[in-house]
Amino acid sequence: MTSDTPAALVAEAGALTAEAVATLEAAGSVAEVAAARPELLGKGSPLAGLRRRLGALAPKDRPAAGRALSEALSEVEKRYETRLDELRSAERRLQLEAERLDLTELHEPPQVGRLHVITQTQRRLEDVFCAMGYTVAEGPEIETEWHNFGALNFPPGHPARDMYDTLYVDHGPPGSTLLRTHTSPVQVRVMQNQSPPLYVVAPGRCYRQDTADATHMPVFHQIEGLVIDEDITLGDLAGAIETFTTAYFGPGFTSRLRPSYFPFTEPSAEFDVQRPDGTWLELGGSGMVHPSVLEVCGVDPERWSGFAFGFGIDRLAMLRYGVDDLRDLWTNDVRFLEQF
Ligand code: DAH
Repeated sequence: MTSDTPAALVAEAGALTAEAVATLEAAGSVAEVAAARPELLGKGSPLAGLRRRLGALAPKDRPAAGRALSEALSEVEKRYETRLDELRSAERRLQLEAERLDLTELHEPPQVGRLHVITQTQRRLEDVFCAMGYTVAEGPEIETEWHNFGALNFPPGHPARDMYDTLYVDHGPPGSTLLRTHTSPVQVRVMQNQSPPLYVVAPGRCYRQDTADATHMPVFHQIEGLVIDEDITLGDLAGAIETFTTAYFGPGFTSRLRPSYFPFTEPSAEFDVQRPDGTWLELGGSGMVHPSVLEVCGVDPERWSGFAFGFGIDRLAMLRYGVDDLRDLWTNDVRFLEQF
């Protein structure tokens, strides 16, 4: 019989443990690890075999050698469980990954629209005048001849009407209804419907017989201003124009009034804006509201006075955005419009 020593037994147990750990580490799947169990920890495993050799040791050596064997077995058992856990979670991860359902769907982002350049310009003008204490009014684009001309001191046959040729609409007596040629009729409507003091701007579309070119369109936009209060003077008009000029165009811009003629204002003036480089830009017409216009609109000229002004919005939009042909604003080519 071979003379077994506790040291030999313990050394062998250590070697078998190391071998078992290596086998477990090398196993690549849960099934492989589980299949290795009988061979590593089963009754017939080499480690279990060592236990049977304990009997051959001297009785005093048995407890220590027995403990060493138990420790070796529980070490392998522990490594077995750890490796099993590791591989189980790895396999679970792979499975989840493989079974993952992609429920997302890719859509082209929606095309975001934008306001037309003229609308943007109109809104900015409204903002500037609102900040100056004005409210915004509107009037119809299909107007009566009376609001567009008569109430504004253009009697039938007045030569100033020649500048305002437009389309007449088949409604009411012939010649009584037309596409408005300016926003000035909104002055009349505001004075008829509201009581002074009035601080109002009225932007909107206007129509005139005109051949389309780079700077003219038969359809265009104006903004009208009307102020009626006590003791309003030409100085207030000049001040309002100047305040507007710096607010809209910025510091470094200034304005001037030049004598002119409009039937519905007395005195009348054109107003120009001076750029910082010294050049002048003609903007629009203005003046003190004619007493007979006040009267016909139900405003007492003895008590109230006021000024009015009107100018084109489209030209401002062209200037601001560097557009050099007005027609580009109307052809509605998205590639052009989306630049602004
Ligand atoms: N309505 C005039 C035009 O289109 C512009 C104008 C001139 C408006 C003088 C006014 C004004 O309010 O006072 O030619």
